Amino acid sequence: MTKIAVVPGSFDPVTFGHLDIIKRGASVFDEIHVVVLNNSSKKPLFTVEERMDLIREVTASLPNVRVDSFSGLLVDYAKSVNAHAIVRGLRAVSDFEYEMQITSMNRVLDDKIETFFIMTNNQYSFLSSSIVKEVAKYGGNISELVPKQVEAALQFKFAKE
Ligand code: PNS
Repeated sequence: MTKIAVVPGSFDPVTFGHLDIIKRGASVFDEIHVVVLNNSSKKPLFTVEERMDLIREVTASLPNVRVDSFSGLLVDYAKSVNAHAIVRGLRAVSDFEYEMQITSMNRVLDDKIETFFIMTNNQYSFLSSSIVKEVAKYGGNISELVPKQVEAALQFKFAKE
């Protein structure tokens, strides 16, 4: 049986922290679907297509990674691609409560889909898309935080503002 996992998120935009989780997930599962949520109540900086394109570019060297988007319930998306696992990164204790809530809800919705957590690498434990956007907006150096394609996309966005 092919072991398929979903790595869901807002990815607005994808960071080195996300990429680390995606790579490590791809080394454990046969197939990884990185899926961008497109019904977020947050107001994203990048469109779903832009976010997917950036993820595709930075995961191009990973043959078992696919990129997709979804609206609605994550468990429904997972079922539609025959995935039995959800992979999430866990940074610090502050993530725990939120992740536990999502995981518990997903288990109520479908107890056949298991959630796995990968501890974020220490060097990315402080990293989030929001913090990257804030630094980029004010012209700070983000080269250690995001791949160069993402850095260029952020500079382009903020130059237009
Ligand atoms: O990167 P994020 O914003 O922390 O990702 C959150 C995400 C996309 C994993 C979560 O919001 C989600 O799964 N949304 C889809 C709606 C859903 O399935 N809700 C039920 C579980 S709370």
